[in-house]
Amino acid sequence: MELRHLRYFVAVAEERNFTRAAQRLNIAQPPLSRQIQQLEETLGVQLLERNSRPLKLTETGKFFYSHAAQLLSQTAELESMTKRVGNIERSLSVGFVGSTLYGMLPKIIRRFRDENATVELSLHEMSTMDQIRALKDGHIDIGFGRIRLEDANIRRVILREEKLIVAFPEGHPLSVAKPVVALRDLVNETLIIFPKAPRPSYADQVLAAFQDRALKPRRIYEVRELQIALGLVAAGEGISIVPSSVYGLKRDDVSYRALDDPTLVSPIIMSMRALDESRDIREMLELIYRLYQEEKIPYAPHTDPAR
Ligand code: BEZ
Repeated sequence: MELRHLRYFVAVAEERNFTRAAQRLNIAQPPLSRQIQQLEETLGVQLLERNSRPLKLTETGKFFYSHAAQLLSQTAELESMTKRVGNIERSLSVGFVGSTLYGMLPKIIRRFRDENATVELSLHEMSTMDQIRALKDGHIDIGFGRIRLEDANIRRVILREEKLIVAFPEGHPLSVAKPVVALRDLVNETLIIFPKAPRPSYADQVLAAFQDRALKPRRIYEVRELQIALGLVAAGEGISIVPSSVYGLKRDDVSYRALDDPTLVSPIIMSMRALDESRDIREMLELIYRLYQEEKIPYAPHTDPAR
C-alpha cells in the first residue's frame, strides 16, 4: 500500500462520488476505480458499499478513512516543516479572517517585515475553518481567526478578547437616545450578521450572545462579509454587531455605540501547527505582545506565548 492509495481513498470517501473525486485528484475515473479496487484487494477487505448512491463507506472503510486522513495530514505537515527547517531563505505564510484587517493585523505585518527583511511573507484571506486545513496541508504557517476550533494537530493562542460594538444607521432613534446600549434594546431590529458561510463563524458568536441571554432578534439577515453588513446598515436595512476595531472605519452614514456588557467580546486567535516551534512563530508572537504593550491594548493572559 502506498501513500497514493490513501490520497485516492480519502478523496473518494470525502466526495462520496468517483467522478468528483477523480476531478479533485486530476485523474481519469477508470484508473481511480482500479486503484481503489487494488487497495481493497491488498487489504483483503471491502472499504466501500458498492451499490449505494451516494457512495457509503463500510464500517471497515470508516475506520480506514479516519486513520488515512490523519496520516495524510501528518505527511503534509512533515513535508512543510522539513522544507521550513531546511530553507535558508525563510518564508512565512499567514492566513487571516477579513475582520482582523481592521484591528492590529496591518501594523503587525508591517512591523514583522521591517524587523525580518529577509523573510518572504505572504498573506491569504480565509475563514478560520479553512485556516486549520491550510495549516495541516502546509499552505500557511500561521492563522489569525476568531473561532475556537479543536484539533489535536493545531496549537491555539488567544491573543486578546476584542469588545463588540453596535453599528446603527446614522440618526437611528436608539443611537440618538443612548450612548451605551444593551442587547435587549436591539431585539426589535433586523440583525445583520456575517459571514454567512462557512459556519461556524463570527456570525454564530453574535447569535450565541443573544441566545445566552434568552433574547431573539426579530429578523436575521445573513450576509457574506463585514463591508456588506456595514453598507446595509448605512442603507437603513438593520443594525450589526461588529468588533470594536471597526470603529476606525469611520463612515458618516453609520454611528457606533458601545454595549453595556463587558463580556460581549470576540477573541482574536493565533493558530499554528502543534509541532512548529520555529523562530518565525516565536518572533511573530513576541512582536504581537510587544505591539500590544506599546499600544496599551489589554491582552489575554497566557502562560508562555512561545510554547
Ligand atoms: C489584533 O487586532 O489584535 C490582531 C489582529 C490580527 C492578528 C493579530 C492580532
